[in-house]
Amino acid sequence: MEESGNKIKTPVFSNITSEDLEHIYEPAEDSFLLIDALEKDLHLIRERKPSLCLEVGSGSGVVITALGTVLGPSCVYMSTDINPRACHTTREVGRLNGVDIEAVCTDLVSGVIDKDVGSVDILLFNPPYVVTPSDEVGRGNLEHTWAGGEHGREVMDRLFPSVDSLLSPQGLFYLLVLKENDPADIELVMAKFGYSCSCVITRRTGPENLSVLRFSRQR
Ligand SMILES: C[S@@+](CC[C@H](N)C(=O)[O-])C[C@H]1O[C@@H](n2cnc3c(N)ncnc32)[C@H](O)[C@@H]1O
Repeated sequence: MEESGNKIKTPVFSNITSEDLEHIYEPAEDSFLLIDALEKDLHLIRERKPSLCLEVGSGSGVVITALGTVLGPSCVYMSTDINPRACHTTREVGRLNGVDIEAVCTDLVSGVIDKDVGSVDILLFNPPYVVTPSDEVGRGNLEHTWAGGEHGREVMDRLFPSVDSLLSPQGLFYLLVLKENDPADIELVMAKFGYSCSCVITRRTGPENLSVLRFSRQR
């Protein structure tokens, strides 16, 4: 995959088998919306001269790989996922597209946060956002991909308090949300941590009304 101006092409992920997809999240409309948001913001991302990008919950790895193909090897790419098979697939999809990704199997940013405190320039999260009963959250590998518990917020809400320690002074945080997650409330929560919010892109796909929010430090 090559950069063509300010376009981001979908990475090749032909290495992912149907057996893999019984265990990990298949790239879908939400994954592609997050890539589209990054493409829309590419000028802003480049202006910040990122040197470390981290995707939380990378699944197949298509999103961090897509970013890696346009920003190139001057940047370090890291990812986390609670599912070891997703971490393996992320490394492989990165490799297939010429992007070296350090994929760490962990809960959100545990173990990463101390090492990379204040140094992440671009933080990405397409969380499990579907509104479900709380007891479905984290029940198994596939439930991990979509079950978000009450208001679909139970997983993403646990990341918000760590964002400020992770991000560099010019850092940006991109979060994919569903209308039912109450984006206005998420904006208020992040404002308490000193972040302002912009909606980069919104799209209705079937019954889902998805948006990508960008957070940056309030000036
Ligand atoms: C909606 S999928 C998104 C996958 C991929 N980023 C994409 O956009 O196609 C959510 C991902 O978050 C991972 N995940 C869920 N809970 C997690 C947790 N507590 N810590 C790390 N990753 C988690 C899941 O395993 C899954 O890969």
